[in-house]
Amino acid sequence: MAPVPNRPSTLGTPRLGDWTMATLRFRGGKPLWGGVRVGGRKNAAVAVLPAALLASEPVRLDNLPRNVDVATSIALLRALGARVVRDGRGAVWVDGAGLARTAVEPMLAGRLRASAYLLGVLVARCGEAEVPLPGGCDIGARPIDQHIKGLRAMGAEVEVAHGIVSAKAARLRAAHIYLDVTSVGSTINLMLAASRAEGVTIIENAAKEPHVVDVATLLQAMGVPVVGAGTDAIKVRGTAVAHGCEHVIIPDEIEAATYLIAAAGTAGEVTVDGVIPRHLEPVSAKLREAGVEVQEWGEAIRVRGPLRPRAIHIKTLPYPGFPTDAQQPMTALLARADGASTVTENIWEDRFRFVEGLRQMGARIRVEGRTARVDGVARLSGAAVDATDLRGAAALALAALFAAGETELRRAEHLDRGYEGFVEKMTSLGADVRRVGADGAHGPEDLDRDGAERLDVEHGAEPRRRAAAAEG
Ligand code: EPZ
Repeated sequence: MAPVPNRPSTLGTPRLGDWTMATLRFRGGKPLWGGVRVGGRKNAAVAVLPAALLASEPVRLDNLPRNVDVATSIALLRALGARVVRDGRGAVWVDGAGLARTAVEPMLAGRLRASAYLLGVLVARCGEAEVPLPGGCDIGARPIDQHIKGLRAMGAEVEVAHGIVSAKAARLRAAHIYLDVTSVGSTINLMLAASRAEGVTIIENAAKEPHVVDVATLLQAMGVPVVGAGTDAIKVRGTAVAHGCEHVIIPDEIEAATYLIAAAGTAGEVTVDGVIPRHLEPVSAKLREAGVEVQEWGEAIRVRGPLRPRAIHIKTLPYPGFPTDAQQPMTALLARADGASTVTENIWEDRFRFVEGLRQMGARIRVEGRTARVDGVARLSGAAVDATDLRGAAALALAALFAAGETELRRAEHLDRGYEGFVEKMTSLGADVRRVGADGAHGPEDLDRDGAERLDVEHGAEPRRRAAAAEG
């Protein structure tokens, strides 16, 4: 690596406006109607961006959503010296050739859980990493002991002091790792680290979420052999050099679930397009149980909501169980169901803080430990409420659409972390919602388009395909 100061650069830091507090004002009670297209999956995007640094050539990422978490991920990469630019066709190129630092910018890392992925990536690529303990939504303790255990098994020396995780390894070696909890983050992080380790790493009790598979698909496209992604045992054969490639990020099933639940709760009819219906099965199955009509075809799902949903019971589980990230929007739906529902949150210990906002809107919900008992009410009423986290903000926004009267949703900037164009998409479905106060600008708008077009020409798929053909 070039002998440059190991100090984060502030270049590419998302604009301050990205974190300006935002308020949304809703007038509820209107059925949603029409069609909406979902973007790329946020939780895949924030993993494939750092993963792209493992390649020795630029990586082209398509279907990257424009939301604040993605903008923060891009800023993290740029602060390390990577070049990240958008091309004329909307794809984002990541060129890690200029990677100059191995210490991750603390202000940015503190905003995002996915900053932890830089631990696996930097130690694999540069032999060392300093990553502040990652931030993210305040939904309970968010340990990274499994990430650390796996890296140590691969021969890294890892220490945690003063809120910084430092890892060092001259050369990672393959290991047989059994995860004590099924964790998306540690499965992905260890796959990334294993991509450069000597030998075949086996990750047992691995997470099976589709975005774990998406990261494996990217690694394979870079020339790293990965088998078993999507099962509970993943094998990664480390390679000394990974090459550039093109990758299309999978659709965001939680964004899709949010619009489907919104339609169901307003007794509306909405088609969500650009999805993989199979990934949404855990949510669709529960919507059907609640009396919602669900039709699937190709890359689309249409729901038609009943006048009032039926009460159901939900337990969150790792994929293919019911996703924790859809728990909060689903709880908002059940707040107006006919009968008593229970919602058990098995993944995060503190993911019911948004319930206070629902109560202010007239919901009858009692939380005991990890279970919420939801006694459905016929009618929610608008109120002034505060969002507490990303999906909690989505849940309160949906409740505002279901409720009679006006709702003011404060701290709505949480939504911008994971939803691109939430207000615009909801408005296109007939919702009465507008942003007041902060401008709400977000997204990686400052990407260098010209630079991307140059990269596209220098390293694009066409020249590579020709080169491969020439090599026979
Ligand atoms: C990912 O978080 C998602 N975030 C979360 O989505 C999602 O809720 C979660 O997976 C579960 O599906 C991103 O992908 C950026 P985990 P992650 O490691 O990777 C415990 C959203 O709304 N655990 O699968 O941090 C942990 O405490 C966000 O988009 C350990 O004990 O989750 C939790 O109980 C919120 N030790 C469980 O495992 C560890 O080292 C699952 O966590 C790691 C995790």
